[in-house]
Formats: sequence, C-alpha cells, structure tokens
Amino acid sequence: MDQLLAALRAAAETTRLRILALLAKGELTVGELVTILAQSQPRVSRHLKLMCDAGLLDRFQEGTVVFYRLADAGVGEKLHQALVPLVPEDDASFVHDLKALSEIRQGHFDKAQDYFRENAASWDEIRSLHVSEEQVEAALLALQGGGKQKRFLDIGTGTGRMLELFAPYMNQAVGIDVSREMLAVARGNLEQKELENCQVRRGDMYKLGVEAGSQDLIVFHQVLHFAEKPAEALREAASALAVGGKILVADFAPHTEEFLRSEHAHRRLGFADEEIIHLGEQAGLKCSAVKHLVGGKLRVTIWRFEGLSSGPIVGKE
Ligand SMILES: C[S@@+](CC[C@H](N)C(=O)[O-])C[C@H]1O[C@@H](n2cnc3c(N)ncnc32)[C@H](O)[C@@H]1O
Repeated sequence: MDQLLAALRAAAETTRLRILALLAKGELTVGELVTILAQSQPRVSRHLKLMCDAGLLDRFQEGTVVFYRLADAGVGEKLHQALVPLVPEDDASFVHDLKALSEIRQGHFDKAQDYFRENAASWDEIRSLHVSEEQVEAALLALQGGGKQKRFLDIGTGTGRMLELFAPYMNQAVGIDVSREMLAVARGNLEQKELENCQVRRGDMYKLGVEAGSQDLIVFHQVLHFAEKPAEALREAASALAVGGKILVADFAPHTEEFLRSEHAHRRLGFADEEIIHLGEQAGLKCSAVKHLVGGKLRVTIWRFEGLSSGPIVGKE
C-alpha cells in the first residue's frame, strides 16, 4: 500500500505526468528533458529523482550521460501503464512536448545522417579500427546455425557487408538502411560482387515493412548503438521473425569512449548482457547464446535470440 501511495503521489503533478508521457515515447537524457520541458536542470532533476525513488522511472548512467526510462517492473510499471494513456493528446503542454521531442529526434537523425554521409565510402575502414572483423564474422557465421535458410534481413545494412557474408547461406537476402548514401555504397558493392540473391532498400529499423513472421535470420551488426529506442527496434525485428528463426545482435560491450558519441553519432556506449537480454525478453525473445569477443580497444559481443517457442537456452562464452 505504501509503495502504491508513494507512486501515486509522485505521478500526481503536471510536469511529472508530462515526463511519464514523454518517456513512454522512448528513453531520454536529463539534458533532453530540460530542453523539452523548458525548466531548469535542478528542477527537472528533482522531479526525476522523486519519480525514480517512487519506482516509476529507472535511471542509468553511461559515461557522462544519464538516461531515464519508464520502470519495467513493479507497481511503478503498472501505474505508468495505466496513467500514460489517460494523458489527453490535445493537452497544450503535451502537444508542445511532443513537438519539442520530435525536433530533438530530428536533430539526432540529421547528425547521424551527416555522419553516415561523410563516412559512407570509408566505413569498412573505420570499423576495422575498433575490432577484428574476421573474428566477429566467423562468430556470426558459427552462431547462425548452419544449413541453407530462406530469408535473411540485414537491419542497418551500411555497406552491405553482412549481406555479402550471409548470402551463400540464404535463398534471399535483403538489407535495409535509412541512409541513401549507404544504400548507394551497398548497391555498388553487391553489383561488383555479383550477389544476385541480395538486394537493398530504404527502410527504418522501427518500421521494417516486411511481412510478419517472414524472416529466418535477422542481423543487427553495429547498428543498435545508434538506436534511440533499442527496445522498439528489437520488438519490430521479433515480429518479422519466422517460427524457428534467429536474431543476431552484434554490438559493443559497455565502454567509456565518449568520442564515439560526440564525433560518431553513437547514442549508446555499448550494451551490457543483462540489458540486451532483458530487452529481448520484453520483445518476446529468449537469448540462446552470448559470445564475447575480446581483442581491440572495444570489445564486441554477439547475442543470439530466438522466439520463445524454440530450443533450450545455451550458456555464455
Ligand atoms: C555502423 S553502420 C553498420 C553497417 C553494417 N551493419 C555493417 O556492419 O557494416 C550503421 C548503419 O545503421 C544505419 N541506420 C541508422 N539508423 C537506422 C534506422 N533507424 N533504420 C535503419 N538503418 C539505420 C546507418 O545508416 C548505417 O548504415
């Protein structure tokens, strides 16, 4: 009862309700909330602390940046799930907040697009500075499960390297990317290598535009750290997965290289196993393998997910 009353009290205030409604759209940093709400940082921080203490929000620090998101357990979760749909969509403050949020997101998108535009031709080279590609690719192939599969979807295909890697094992391989420049580079690569079972198209990881339950293998290779809403991206991928299909996520383990955020448009400085596994569970997926690849400045981890109906859970390596 005390917990419920504390959570109710924490939610019962205009700014705090606005914060709940905003975070329902995706995780945000304290700086972003300050910009959207147009209130001082100490004031916003006070609201956030109160809501975290009451179990409505979770806070996590990554390098110099603090993120907030809606709690995903306990009374707090149930309460925000009940409250957020009741916030009137035409409320003037909320309309203002949504507009400011979309401007912030557009800013991130533009920054990432500029980055990809500038780096499209040399991305393969930049990537090789961070990790041993051969090791990662061998591990990805080992984790895919073998045998010829029908349909492969490469989310955030970039230069199309994952299409090239998996094409021999697939009947049909499609790469999607939001960046026209990246797609142009990928098309050039695929044509040059005469990979006739591969194609690329413009698409968004949050709205894949493929038939539900149609894909046997889906890969996110060095893509999720750009995502504002990694949970939503995994959910969208999960709904595209065929029965018995697999999702491979390759990304950095948590790191402290802030320059990747400031200069290379990364949103997240890597992911801990617990976080990705939890996001997968929320998307209705179970993690069936985790592979840590040590070597290089940034460590790479590969997480393999499957639908809840298939196979036993395999351990970590
Ligand atoms: C670091 S590159 C990785 C490319 C590729 N997966 C590889 O391993 O070579 C990240 C790619 O994700 C794409 N991307 C970023 N946000 C995206 C989104 N919302 N939907 C689809 N692709 C996106 C970028 O345009 C970029 O090509």
